[in-house]
Amino acid sequence: MQDNPLMLIPNPVSCKVDEGRLSIKRDWFLMANEPLLPEQVTLLQDMLGRALPRDYAAKYQAMPNGHAANLLIQMDPEICDGKAEASILTVKSDQIQIAATDQAGLFYAMQSLVQLIGIAGPSGEIPCCTVTDYPRYAWRGFMLDSARHFQSVQWIKRHIDRMAAIKLNRLHWHLCDDEGWRAQVKAYPRLTEVAAWRTENGQRYGGYYTQQQMRDIVQYAKLRHITVIPEIEMPGHCNSALVAYSEFSCSGQPIEIGDEGWDAYKQVTGRLPYCAAKPAVFTFLKTVLSEMAQIFDHHLHIGGDETPGEKWDNCPLCSALKTKLGIKTNVALRTHFLNQMHEHCTKTLGRQSIVWTDGVDEQTPQDQIVHAWHAHEAATAARLGHQVINSNHEWVYLDYPPRDADKHTKPDWMLVLPLEKVYHFDPTPEGLEPEHQKNILGSESPIWTEHVPDEKALEKQVFPRLIAFAEALWSPRWGRSFDEFKQRLERFENTTQNIHKTRAQPVGVTV
Ligand code: ACM
Ligand code: ZN
Repeated sequence: MQDNPLMLIPNPVSCKVDEGRLSIKRDWFLMANEPLLPEQVTLLQDMLGRALPRDYAAKYQAMPNGHAANLLIQMDPEICDGKAEASILTVKSDQIQIAATDQAGLFYAMQSLVQLIGIAGPSGEIPCCTVTDYPRYAWRGFMLDSARHFQSVQWIKRHIDRMAAIKLNRLHWHLCDDEGWRAQVKAYPRLTEVAAWRTENGQRYGGYYTQQQMRDIVQYAKLRHITVIPEIEMPGHCNSALVAYSEFSCSGQPIEIGDEGWDAYKQVTGRLPYCAAKPAVFTFLKTVLSEMAQIFDHHLHIGGDETPGEKWDNCPLCSALKTKLGIKTNVALRTHFLNQMHEHCTKTLGRQSIVWTDGVDEQTPQDQIVHAWHAHEAATAARLGHQVINSNHEWVYLDYPPRDADKHTKPDWMLVLPLEKVYHFDPTPEGLEPEHQKNILGSESPIWTEHVPDEKALEKQVFPRLIAFAEALWSPRWGRSFDEFKQRLERFENTTQNIHKTRAQPVGVTV
């Protein structure tokens, strides 16, 4: 069992408890060996301010000014062999020091400190200690499906705070699917006028995020060292877009919508793909991705999973295209489709693209990140030289029920995914050769929301398993003990609840 007397989550690389204690019942003065950006200072002050007992504040001074700092921040790229996101947090009886290799390392050390303050509780004392920490994986993500059911901007920001508290750093945002389109696209207004809405329980249900709201979320997340990655699904999972713009389907016929419910958009037609041969489809999707690239400053996820390619068989244009390209299968046509969009992402927009894999092969561009969800594809993709996000559904799909007793509330095909199994997840597939292991970037834990109707249900589904996932991604593998984790989890849940309860809104950009 790894020794973690401080009860931190996720478990740090190492922690050592020293003699003595530091009292937290006083105003805190922060100083740094190099100037911090004003918005970082505000955030750090706020994090500490909310964690400290009432009546005590945290203040930052850019220059030492003769005053001894309670919290001394030292940016030092040399510590921990210069690893990214690394820090050493030292608590002495009269001062706390944080040395960090980069801003993310500083932020995570602050998160650990906030936990230590929360754990101290009414005693108002933190044991003197040294905590050395850095993550095992660089890509530690959560995927939110806002298409099947919609979440408010306010809830997403709150969730970003929770993700940051457990040191997750990627929010993959599933913004469109058969059942709804959520991203405002200025060039195609019917996406938000039509595709964002349906009838549910006799009411108009839906919503969308304006470009300003999406920008705001990106900024809010960025300050908390979380990168937001939009997903625009193609060539399948697009019925809502086809209801709004039926000219993008193979038949071009208007599409009927079912009476109501989350799958109303596919009740009548089944699932349809975009036509793979109409130039207007590519103009549309390129425009959508270009608008997204102006809002989101990192990767672009272009979907690619579960394409109903058999629907292309009846389309003269798609059939003619296959003949022209010498392509025999719909799988190859899907790859051809996705590769054009990949080229737009890389060559025109200068962004790496990510694709769900339903069978990676030699046609998949080498510089495309492969997002694996079937059990064996992470290893296959890594061996083919791709960078891989391993979201093996058997281990990390949070829409699956956590207990046998909950199984009857979910569709039959869902597996049971207990907390303990998530805790033991390893993104690096067993047996993957050492030379290919470096291709595993990490993982994302998705929540698909067909059966998750609102934010309350979402939280129940996501927690506490996302906390176990965060530890699986961050912490060293050796010495893992689920029993020991459960003790820390209990403490964490009690204390973070307190931290979230105190004081008003978290600072940052607000809508
Ligand atoms: C997926 O679960 N269809 C990526
Ligand atoms: Zn077609």
